[in-house]
Amino acid sequence: MFLKKNSKVPLDKFINRVLYDKTKGYYMNKNPIGNKGDFITSPNISIMFSEMIAVWLISFWEKIGCPKILNIIELGAGNGEMMFQILKTTEKFNKFKSSSNFIIYEKSPHLKKIQKSKIKFSNIRWINNLKKINNYPSIFIANEFFDALPIKQFIKKKSSWSERYIKNNNENLEFYEKKTKKEFIERLIKQRINKSQNFIEYSPLANKKLTIISKIIKKNNGGLLVIDYGYNDKKMFDTLQSVKKHKKNSVLKNIYNADITHLINFYFLKKKISALKLDSVNLTTQREFLIKIGILERAEIISKNMPFSKKSDIYFRLDRLIGKKQMGDLFKVLFATKKINKFNLGF
Ligand SMILES: C[S@@+](CC[C@H](N)C(=O)[O-])C[C@H]1O[C@@H](n2cnc3c(N)ncnc32)[C@H](O)[C@@H]1O
Repeated sequence: MFLKKNSKVPLDKFINRVLYDKTKGYYMNKNPIGNKGDFITSPNISIMFSEMIAVWLISFWEKIGCPKILNIIELGAGNGEMMFQILKTTEKFNKFKSSSNFIIYEKSPHLKKIQKSKIKFSNIRWINNLKKINNYPSIFIANEFFDALPIKQFIKKKSSWSERYIKNNNENLEFYEKKTKKEFIERLIKQRINKSQNFIEYSPLANKKLTIISKIIKKNNGGLLVIDYGYNDKKMFDTLQSVKKHKKNSVLKNIYNADITHLINFYFLKKKISALKLDSVNLTTQREFLIKIGILERAEIISKNMPFSKKSDIYFRLDRLIGKKQMGDLFKVLFATKKINKFNLGF
């Protein structure tokens, strides 16, 4: 059984075990991404997505004066598709290529193996500790990374707060609410809780990563690009969800065999990053971001001499990325950097 009889764990500990348990964890010994997996991500829908990120990276590098060395770090690279396409796209840009250290920060040994067998370029390495990045301008890219980190949830009912736990009740897993104090939550999230707020989702791990990353950017210059499924409202709500084979699954069912994820509250993320003293934070939708970089023109160029069936496949995939009812509006893009860089391509 997942939990001993009558024992309970806070939600973040539960998610951490389900997804990252060393032997059984969901991400630790399988590749969940793709049509045959449980969900699909933008780089795996169309290579145009990664091509736009590559163009955007080169523009950033140029804008900050073409430094001789630039670290490009992907956080949580899944099956390695985005990094592979970025390296392929930037192959022809000799000066940029020879200035770039490509780095993957990945927790899953199984996914790391897949990444290593796919990405055979010489200027890439893998790290287990973000603090190893301590020199040179560094740009961090997080596509669906933060939504894979464990969260805590707090619920307010009749002016008193509780934390969500998972409990083994006679061999059945169920949610359980354990009373807590508002002050405890405020200390944890380092923010006052507004009276109108009656739900909080918060990832202590995401907060840790953001603190390390913003320190590196403040010291060496660079930036953080976050692309994720999320919303931009002051008011938080319960966004915990689980998927298996591209369909909704109950969070407490198919333990170790279904993904558990949540939506990013970008309003809160922006506030957090500003508090960490990165003074330029831009936010837009995936649709706006990709269109402003030139994805429509790219689709036109590559589909020009193609037969109808191939052309329609390209536009079908493009629509999945930028369609308003598809990923275009649901996915948001945030870029945090230093104001002095005056870089806002895509926003
Ligand atoms: C939802 S997948 C996204 C994969 C990829 N970015 C994409 O868009 O296809 C999340 C990725 O983050 C990795 N990950 C999760 N927690 C991590 C952590 N604490 N440190 C490093 N990688 C982590 C997972 O193993 C997985 O590769």
